[in-house]
Order: sequence, then C-alpha cells, then structure tokens
Amino acid sequence: MNKVLVLGAGGQIGTELVAALRAERGQENVWAADLRADALTAPCVALDATDASAVRALVEREGIREIYQLVAMLSATGEKMPDKAWALNMDTLFIVLDMAKEGLLDRVFWPSSIAAFGPTTPRLGTPQYTVMDPTTVYGVSKLSGELWCQYYRQKFGVDVRSLRYPGLISWKTPPGGGTTDYAIDIFHAARRDGRYTSFLGPETRLPMMHMEDAIRATLQLMAAPKESLTVQTSYNVAAVDFTPAELAAAIAKRMPGFAIDYAPDFRQAIANSWPQRIDDAEARRDWGWTPRYDLDALVDDMMAHI
Ligand code: SER
Repeated sequence: MNKVLVLGAGGQIGTELVAALRAERGQENVWAADLRADALTAPCVALDATDASAVRALVEREGIREIYQLVAMLSATGEKMPDKAWALNMDTLFIVLDMAKEGLLDRVFWPSSIAAFGPTTPRLGTPQYTVMDPTTVYGVSKLSGELWCQYYRQKFGVDVRSLRYPGLISWKTPPGGGTTDYAIDIFHAARRDGRYTSFLGPETRLPMMHMEDAIRATLQLMAAPKESLTVQTSYNVAAVDFTPAELAAAIAKRMPGFAIDYAPDFRQAIANSWPQRIDDAEARRDWGWTPRYDLDALVDDMMAHI
C-alpha cells in the first residue's frame, strides 16, 4: 500500500481527510503533518510545508508516494495580508509539484475553490470552462495554481488532481478565515446565543457542501482511473446552494425563536464576486460524482453535533 502524506492535516479539511484515508488505507500508511502536531495522531509530524527540504526529507525517509497539499490562507484572511497569502499558497504547491516532477510522488491532490471565479463569471449554473477573473489574492492563487497544475500535467506528466470546493460545512474542526464561514458560525451562535449576526446579507447565495460529501469527492477523484479524467485544471463540484436567510429559516424550523440579523462587512464584496450555483457535469460524467447532503440533511447533521 502506497504511503500518503497530508499537509495541513490539522485544518478543517485535513482533520477529516486524514481519518477517512486511514480508514481506507490503514493508520500506519497515512502521515499527518501540520505546523503544530499536538492535535494530530501518529504517524504525524510538526512540519512547515513551506520548508521544501523538510518535506522532501520526510517523503524520502518514509517512502511516501502521494501527497494531499491542503495548506492555504483563505479568502478573507488573504485580503488582510496579500503578500503572505500569495507566498504561502504558491510555495506550498510548487514544493509538491516539483517533487512529483522528479518522480518522488505518483499522485498529488491540491484543492482549488469557487474563489477562482470572478465577477464576470456566469453566476448561475457556472460551467467548468468559463470566464475566470478572481478579485481576491486567494482566488488569484487558486486560478494560478490550477494553471500550474495543468502545466505540470501536460509538460511533465505529473498526476495532479484537483477540486474547486464550494464553502465546506463541518463541525469537527473550525474553519479559518473564509468568506463562507458564516454558514458554520451560525450553528455555534444558534446554540450559544439563540441568535446570529451575519457578515453576509440575507440574499447572498453561495455554493456549499457538507464535509462528508467533500471528503467522498476527494477520495473518489483520487481513485479514478487517470484515463477517465478529462479536466486538466480543477473539477467543478456542487452539492447545495443557499442564502443566509434560507439557512436561518432552516435552523429556526428546528429551533423556534432563533433570530438572525445582518451586518455585511468587507466579505460581502468577496461573496458577490463568486458563483451562486455551480454546474458540475464533468465531475459527474468523468468519475461519477453525486452529492448526498441537501440543505435539510446538512442542517440536521450540524444541529445534531453542535
Ligand atoms: N471557503 C473558502 C473561503 O471562503 C472558499 O474556498 O475562502
């Protein structure tokens, strides 16, 4: 069994991806790495993913053949420190792509995002191939990264695979610094205070996905035969879409008296530049993607655990 490394293993996606990979491939075959290792379980290591020689040393020592590179600064935080966001998001990608190019890795996963789209992208039924003019440094790094993945595939035969994740909804590990985070914060606030002030306006529709769907999509894409993958950059994947008002109504149905008000901040402009509903026909056709969680299932699951 090929050994696997997850970089950013302590993050929102990493925590659940490590558990899923270990269930599939055996605990000892999946290495978890993050800047701090206190919350990780063995085999794990504290590792700076921008330190190319440290990552390479681990890969060589352990005979790791597959990397999931999840380290990134998200959209809202990235706007506060654009130079750091750009450096982190790109450096960590190139370190992994270059190891694959040298033949140290058989396969790489790297996440892109709906943030790779922009204000002139068609917002409803956003197709796989369309205008992409991101306005955040995070989105610019995701679109650039997608093109670099394509370049490494085509020029060097690197098997790098990628998904354009929508907003990911989960309860196990908090997200950090995203524009879609309101859809998680709202559940914690509902339990704590019975009310929530949303930093996005009531009608701001965005594509979203339950983490279980996101993990299943990731594993499915990584297991697909290479010949079936036609998208060279990153696959659109969709599950649900909703507005803060619709999410609040779904919570209020289960928690009478729950109240929401709105105080949009700088994240509103980011959300306004993103698609509202994604068309994921290529993912469905090429590797059989189908989501399981609709809005009701997602809200039921979040309320059962928070
Ligand atoms: N969830 C991310 C963000 O809001 C989008 O990829 O930044």
